Amino acid sequence: MKVIIGSESEIAKKAAAQYVKLLVNKPGAVLGGATGSTPLGLYAQLVKLNKEGVISFKDVKTFNLDEYVGLDGSHDQSYRYFMNTNLFDHIDIDPANTHVPDGINTEKAAEYDGMIEAAGGIDLQILGIGVDGHIGFDEPGTPIDSITHVVELEQNTREVNSRFFRSIDEVPTHAVTMGIKTIMNARSIILMAIGKSKAEIVKKMIQGPVTTDVPASILQLHPDVTVYLDDEAAALL
Ligand code: F6R
Repeated sequence: MKVIIGSESEIAKKAAAQYVKLLVNKPGAVLGGATGSTPLGLYAQLVKLNKEGVISFKDVKTFNLDEYVGLDGSHDQSYRYFMNTNLFDHIDIDPANTHVPDGINTEKAAEYDGMIEAAGGIDLQILGIGVDGHIGFDEPGTPIDSITHVVELEQNTREVNSRFFRSIDEVPTHAVTMGIKTIMNARSIILMAIGKSKAEIVKKMIQGPVTTDVPASILQLHPDVTVYLDDEAAALL
C-alpha cells in the first residue's frame, strides 16, 4: 500500500491528480464511486477540473459501491441522490453511464458484478473506511470471495450514519453492497480517511494482520492501492 499524508485539501487535490492521469490516458475509464463525507473534497476537485476543461467524463462509466435497501433515487438520503447532487449533476457525464446498486429491486444485486465486467472492469475504485473497518458496506466477517449482495447493517454503522437522518429509526437496516471480491477486482484503488475517529482503524488496516475482522486490511493483498490520509487519520501510524 502506498500511503500519502497531508491536509484534507492537499489529499483531495492529490487524489484528484490520480483521476486526471487516468482520464487523460483512458477517456473511457470505468470509475468506482463511494458516498459519505470522505470523498466530498475529491468530488469538488473533480467538478472543478471538469469545469476548467482539464478532464472530461463524457465517455466515463461509473459504478457505485452501495445503496440503502428501501430508498429509491429520489430519497435525499439515498446514495443515488448523493451521487447526483455531489458529482454527476455538475460534470459532463451521461447519466445513463452512471450506476448505483438498486435498493428497491434487490434481486438485481446478483447482476451487478456482471454489469461491471461487461463494462470492462473498474479502473479506479474510491473507498472510504468505517470505524469498524468496513469498506463499502462489507462489515467485519464478510467473506473475501463475496460479490455484490444484500447485507444487514451493524448497529454501530447505523448509529454513525444516523447523523444524516432525523432519527436512527429512519436509517435503513439493510444495504446492497459490492462484495470484497468485487472491490478487489478493481485495477487500482484509492482509500481516503479523514479525522481522528479513523486513526485507530487506519493503523489496523495498514499495519495489522490481514483479517476479515478488519475488511479494509484485505486491501494489503491488492497490488495497486493508494491510501490518502489527513494528519489526524494518520496520527497512530
Ligand atoms: C460509502 C461507503 C462507506 C463509507 C464509510 C465511511 O459509499 O461505502 O464504506 O465510505 O462508511 O464513511 P464517511 O466517509 O462518511 O466517514
